[in-house]
Amino acid sequence: MEYTTLGETGTTVSRICLGCMGFGGSGSGELFAPWTVDEEQATEVIDRAIELGINFFDTANFYSVGGSEEILGNALSEYDRDELVVATKSFIPMNDDPNSGGLSRKTIEQELDHSLDRLGMETVDLYQIARWDQNTSIEQTLRALDDAVRRGKTRYIGASSMWAHQFAEALYTSDRLGLERFITMQNQYSPIYREEEREMNPLCESKNIGRLSWSPLGGGYLARPHEEQDEVRDEGPAAALHNSDASREINERVQELADDHDVSMAQIGLAWQLSKEGVTAPIYGTTSVEHLEDAVEAVELDLSESDVEYLEEPYEPVEAVGIEVNL
Ligand SMILES: NC(=O)c1ccc[n+]([C@@H]2O[C@H](COP(=O)([O-])OP(=O)(O)OC[C@H]3O[C@@H](n4cnc5c(N)ncnc54)[C@H](OP(=O)(O)O)[C@@H]3O)[C@@H](O)[C@H]2O)c1
Repeated sequence: MEYTTLGETGTTVSRICLGCMGFGGSGSGELFAPWTVDEEQATEVIDRAIELGINFFDTANFYSVGGSEEILGNALSEYDRDELVVATKSFIPMNDDPNSGGLSRKTIEQELDHSLDRLGMETVDLYQIARWDQNTSIEQTLRALDDAVRRGKTRYIGASSMWAHQFAEALYTSDRLGLERFITMQNQYSPIYREEEREMNPLCESKNIGRLSWSPLGGGYLARPHEEQDEVRDEGPAAALHNSDASREINERVQELADDHDVSMAQIGLAWQLSKEGVTAPIYGTTSVEHLEDAVEAVELDLSESDVEYLEEPYEPVEAVGIEVNL
């Protein structure tokens, strides 16, 4: 494994972050979605990730309605907490109660406490807001997050997909008020979704914000030939990108590069991520030990400039997706 610094914090994280969205049941013992796995399988993946040198994990309160946090917390309780960097997030409502979603002080305080209970931890390393809340002033949200840091409930705060002007306003507001500042931006970025190269990424680079890419393989689209796309997983924000001519051409070029380098398609996709200077870590999602073992080898794969250009050439701008969620 290779390691880097999480934004400007000086905290060391593995260059691959394990995304935990695929872990969890519904509470009734059934799986939350067809693409999620139960605790036994998830724990095998988490244990293997740690063996392979991954120390960085991303979850959310709303993944399997808390199930992902519970599974992650149980699995990590077997290890030295000091050696792990745990990120979670909130914003999407957990149930019918509107106060279980959004970014009001009430919601942030309640939901962070619930996340800590499920994780079995006194503090998380990174607490992220999953989207921008149109109904709450950013000042209120930042004051609640700042208090969470002062109370020792989270060490750092981060944000996820939103418009760059909103993130700029958040950074400006925290600086103006002397509040804790977002240190990371978790946004959608992959060879089939590069809109952030002209929206969010330049802002992050100029403000030294670490970037964590979600759906780094386009939600799995770049991990296998497009003809074999898994219909079950073909949903969510990244799925809107799967059927264009440009995406298919990129998928075929990933296959070609995988053949040339004698590696898997997933490794090419992750090596592309790691070739991008602003990316701290792609948040790689997997429910399979075999896929994980293969994927981590991407840290040793250097794509040449011409490989990167070849992969990027067919890209055509698309409508921005996955930025706004209306509550
Ligand atoms: N902030 C946000 O709004 C947001 C949104 C979405 C996701 N996220 C975060 O980002 C993480 C990753 O997102 P994602 O799961 O959409 O991204 P992804 O890493 O692009 O795709 C994961 C998919 O790829 C498949 N895959 C991985 N390696 C493979 C291989 N070698 N061969 C075939 N298939 C392979 C996985 O299936 P297997 O399980 O079978 O390996 C899974 O279905 C999430 O866990 C979550 O933490 C954040």
